[in-house]
Amino acid sequence: MNHTGNVDASTKDPRSLDAGSTDTDTFGPAGTLDPGSTDTDTVGSGINTAGIGPRVAGPSVMAHITAAPDVLSISWSNGEVSEFTSLWLRDNRPEDRDAHSGQRLVDIADLPEQPRIRAVQLHGNAVRIEWQDETTPTSFDSAWLAAHAPAQQPDQPECRITRWLDGASMNAARDFAWATTGELESHPRLKLEWLTRLLQMGMAFLSEVPATDPAILDAMALAGRVCETNYGLTFDVRSVAQPENLAYSDLGLGLHTDNPYREPVPGFQALHVLLASPDGGDSLFADGFAIAEHLRRTDPESFDVLTQTQVPFRYRSKDAELYAERPLIQLSCNGEVTAVHYNNRSIAPLRLAAADTASFYAAYRRFALLLREPRFQMTFGMRDGDLVLFDNQRILHGRTAFSSARHGRHLRGCYLTRDSVFSQAALLRRELNRETLT
Ligand SMILES: [Fe+2]
Repeated sequence: MNHTGNVDASTKDPRSLDAGSTDTDTFGPAGTLDPGSTDTDTVGSGINTAGIGPRVAGPSVMAHITAAPDVLSISWSNGEVSEFTSLWLRDNRPEDRDAHSGQRLVDIADLPEQPRIRAVQLHGNAVRIEWQDETTPTSFDSAWLAAHAPAQQPDQPECRITRWLDGASMNAARDFAWATTGELESHPRLKLEWLTRLLQMGMAFLSEVPATDPAILDAMALAGRVCETNYGLTFDVRSVAQPENLAYSDLGLGLHTDNPYREPVPGFQALHVLLASPDGGDSLFADGFAIAEHLRRTDPESFDVLTQTQVPFRYRSKDAELYAERPLIQLSCNGEVTAVHYNNRSIAPLRLAAADTASFYAAYRRFALLLREPRFQMTFGMRDGDLVLFDNQRILHGRTAFSSARHGRHLRGCYLTRDSVFSQAALLRRELNRETLT
């Protein structure tokens, strides 16, 4: 079946085309192309069921098209309507992409300011657009248009995060993904599941990681790209005399994120237990995104202050001088919480006007008190060979105190770039689904 239909968009009045039309149809006075074929494909309730029919399975089945000079409107069979402006369509012409890399060959300065649609035709699963001032038409695959519709949210499973507020009711062994490195290496689908749950929940675990020097790097090569810092590719968390960082002491550590003084902030952190303490040193975790949303609900004024106040963070040692400023709660342009940065040990003296100081400290205290609430904290006694990998811009971590005089405790850590972990999941899904780059 390869039917076509036409919509003339050369007038101000939108013209429309039912996806059940055929190439023999002409649009009537109202601009609607009535279906005329005897094809029995069903494209939606109230929509003529003959003719071109469903283009592809799923939500990208086109039911009805309306075209005007400045906009193409597609009604999908699931009832949703997407509008694509002529400039957006012109900017996304497949012809303007490099055939090999897929990268765009033009920029906005190369495009007409007001490209105008002259006519639209349906060709199989494609929408063919003729332009008023250009001779070369453009074809868009309907599935591509559905995937890139303006209101369409990214559909990668790893981006559908699950916030967990009530950490005290969580069980690390039960509620998070666990695997061994051997399982990740041998079973790609299990690895994809593990990575996806890591990104949705913010953390995941490995077990039976050997207590050898390179084991953490070998294991993390399965998850992303390790980044080197002034601490090295890896760092050892154990008590030392006169530590440059309180992490290297016996002290308990309240919930925090690591290295907010760094640019960029480490994306993910891995901690591998080489020697667990049988007496203290339990790990604490909480979902900073969930607690930030709790603050937004219960104390929106404090939430706003923490998203709008630049907080200085500093780390100084004999071989590093690090400084960065960022809000404790970071938002995207549309107001979603995208990062939490909280580390009381490295907050530098704030440079706030007196009028802003009280409101900041009140909000800061409110957030700190939330982080101390036991109900939000998941406690877990990690064992030798366990490894936890977590989103350092979302999951806060801490530990209970321990006594190195009575029992040794030794963890080895490293940081991974944030994008590399997301890439690892998306790449594996692409390979397993045999998707192509274009
Ligand atoms: Fe830490």
